[in-house]
Amino acid sequence: MLKINKLLVAYDGSAQSQKALDWAIDIIEYTHADLLIVSVVTPPIVYSGFDQNSGIMLGPLWEIAEQETKKVLDTALTYCRDKNVPAQTILLHGIPDDEIIKYAHQQEINMIICGTRGLGGFEGLLLGSVAQKLVTYAKMPVLVIK
Ligand SMILES: Nc1ncnc2c1ncn2[C@@H]1O[C@H](COP(=O)(O)OP(=O)(O)OP(=O)(O)O)[C@@H](O)[C@H]1O
Ligand SMILES: [Mg+2]
Repeated sequence: MLKINKLLVAYDGSAQSQKALDWAIDIIEYTHADLLIVSVVTPPIVYSGFDQNSGIMLGPLWEIAEQETKKVLDTALTYCRDKNVPAQTILLHGIPDDEIIKYAHQQEINMIICGTRGLGGFEGLLLGSVAQKLVTYAKMPVLVIK
């Protein structure tokens, strides 16, 4: 039997990712799956410093990006709490699709839910690049919400 134990929502704070979260909340009502909400901090384009030991970019721009992502995840968590829906948030660093896929495989997620588009602005594309990569490379089903 098809069993969804762990549902992962890719959340970037966009209206589409909010819709994805709403669908996830509906689905866990029936499946009683664990709801995990992941948001990936993307390295700022402007390079502001480098830590020799970790190889991770540091500096004010990186910190601002991280703070923004924390706020985005807090908003999602508050949204779930207001609906009495238990959820866990995960903040990752790096290239969004790579990190989401790696995490989903490690955690044996049964299904990923994302939006068709996110915060990026290339209206011409049918699907955003993160959504495309998730659909193409994740080994579990991906539900793309529009
Ligand atoms: N940084 C992120 N962290 C978590 N989920 C993300 C992130 N970026 C995108 N997503 C997920 O992927 C979905 C599609 O967004 P995507 O980034 O592919 O589109 P876009 O921003 O319009 O285009 P692009 O990023 O290619 O310019 C979002 O609705 C969200 O579910
Ligand atoms: Mg994007």
